[in-house]
Amino acid sequence: MENVIYVKELTKRFGDFTAVDGIGFEVRKGEVFGFLGPNGAGKTTTIRMLTGLSKPTCGSASVLGLDIKSEIINVKKRIGVVPEISNLYDELSGFDNLLFMAQLYGVPRTQRKRRAEELLKTFRLYERKDGLFRTFSRGMKRALAIAAALIHNPEVIFLDEPTVGLDVVAARSLRNLISNFRRQGITIFHTTHYLEEADLLCDRVAVLVKGKILTIDTPEALKSKTNKKSLEEAFMKITGLEPDVMAIEKGK
Ligand SMILES: Nc1ncnc2c1ncn2[C@@H]1O[C@H](COP(=O)(O)OP(=O)(O)OP(=O)(O)O)[C@@H](O)[C@H]1O
Ligand SMILES: [Mg+2]
Repeated sequence: MENVIYVKELTKRFGDFTAVDGIGFEVRKGEVFGFLGPNGAGKTTTIRMLTGLSKPTCGSASVLGLDIKSEIINVKKRIGVVPEISNLYDELSGFDNLLFMAQLYGVPRTQRKRRAEELLKTFRLYERKDGLFRTFSRGMKRALAIAAALIHNPEVIFLDEPTVGLDVVAARSLRNLISNFRRQGITIFHTTHYLEEADLLCDRVAVLVKGKILTIDTPEALKSKTNKKSLEEAFMKITGLEPDVMAIEKGK
């Protein structure tokens, strides 16, 4: 199967602190790849490097066959990113934020409005489309950030804890959406603390602790290797972390 993301010995240091420590993995086309780890493990730092927001200290990576150092501009055109912290404009309406992103990503003028409306409906924000972004609730902001990341029909989507702050219904509809992406051959790189969600959604998961990948496998294989019923228990056994480490973070 074709690989869409290649990562080799990727490292990020901040001064003498190593946030991401020589990680390597591959993500296949159409796969939902989970990147799991406790606070500070290096998940966001990895996403930032793969999406051109932060330069690796060393190592290499490619996305859609394009090198993230020399060809990042072309990478950016073909990926969608839902960052941990919103990248949208407080003083623009929901609708205008999407139109702006559509323009930024080169969606043809004639399609921008229709595409924005379609996404507002998908994310149940259509009624509030003319409200300013700053007046949105946390969950509505999150939903709009996801809609914005999809505006140009990206081939790969990077989601940094997309369901944090979403209510049960919105989280479920996002999971359905992710399943649909998979059927369309869109590749998803998904970081989450929510291990139940990872178990439901991910084809394979990487377990990241202190900047290092401890293991990469299917949720099923991790459960059977550790002889545990849930991915959460398997994760605790693999990492040696206490269950409440992840529990606290779920409520973050
Ligand atoms: N700009 C920076 N300068 C210094 N240290 C940083 C910087 N960005 C991240 N770090 C450190 O790198 C480590 C990894 O951070 P990162 O944000 O990647 O973790 P994470 O796995 O996304 O955690 P969380 O689950 O809390 O989002 C942390 O110790 C963090 O303090
Ligand atoms: Mg993070």
